[in-house]
Amino acid sequence: MFYPRFRPRRMRANENLRRMIRETRLSVDDLIYPMFVVPGRRVKKLISSMPGNFQQSVDRIVEDAKEVYELGIPAILLFGIPEYKDALGSSAYDKKGPVQEAIRAIKKKVPELIVITDVCLCEYTSHGHCGIVKNGKILNDPAIKILAREALSHVKAGADMVAPSDMMDGRVAVIREALDKEGFADIPIMSYAAKYASSFYGPFREAAESTPKSGDRRSYQMDPPNALEALREVALDIEEGADIVMVKPALSYLDIIYRVKEEFGMPVAAYNVSGEFSMIKAAGRLGWIDEKRAMMEVLTSIKRAGADMIITYFAKEVAKNL
Ligand code: PBG
Repeated sequence: MFYPRFRPRRMRANENLRRMIRETRLSVDDLIYPMFVVPGRRVKKLISSMPGNFQQSVDRIVEDAKEVYELGIPAILLFGIPEYKDALGSSAYDKKGPVQEAIRAIKKKVPELIVITDVCLCEYTSHGHCGIVKNGKILNDPAIKILAREALSHVKAGADMVAPSDMMDGRVAVIREALDKEGFADIPIMSYAAKYASSFYGPFREAAESTPKSGDRRSYQMDPPNALEALREVALDIEEGADIVMVKPALSYLDIIYRVKEEFGMPVAAYNVSGEFSMIKAAGRLGWIDEKRAMMEVLTSIKRAGADMIITYFAKEVAKNL
């Protein structure tokens, strides 16, 4: 069947026709909003490289979480900047840490909002790495024990779900075991399963104050050229007990999102990371692109690739736009 009998343009003639054959729809249900909690009171500090996003103290983040929920967004992903850092990241499992306090306060004020916590060490370690540093090496096995303690302390504070982002081997299994042993068998794990050593995390490191003091993350995060390895990483995390698998970043890795969805049929999350957000913001401010349209196009493409949920700094704006 070809031209002139078949004319694909017929079905593009107006918005109502286009609506009828539209294959992918972005919904507020797809969104997860990342939030950053800091110590103190009445703190709401703009993250300069991420317009519209803030570091907030517990009292302020609660207000914002309420607004997020009222916009219809089902979940947030919580990151914390602690009062103190040490070589072992021990503030990560401080019962009175900002994340733990924020979880309690948010669950009290907005109980229905799903609170997912980022479980990692880089925000809590003095060296800024996601594992334990010894003689210039990043140690795996001591790190996952601390990550399990951190996850458990989040869940004890009331977190609905934990999201390990460290890329240490075996951490999903150890976290699953720790949660089950303490009676939290029902708490899901969203694993950052295929997380790449990406240049697009730049602005986030200002937000989370988690830049490594030396070296980089390439000995634990994935090498960008690899796809089959991502499938192996995802398979491992599923075997270890992950309920949702994440691909991160999203835009340069749409092929990975697609393949993970096809291969495993698991709930797939995609992280539209800070650099992806800031690029659009920056170009929008310069008048080089239409920011709103770019936002919708990018997020729709992530969903079209196969993501069931999208973690994005645009979440509130999208919710308002839908
Ligand atoms: C912590 C973590 C990072 C991000 C999420 N969790 C930074 C990193 O790995 O360096 C990045 C998120 C973003 O850029 O939006 N390990």
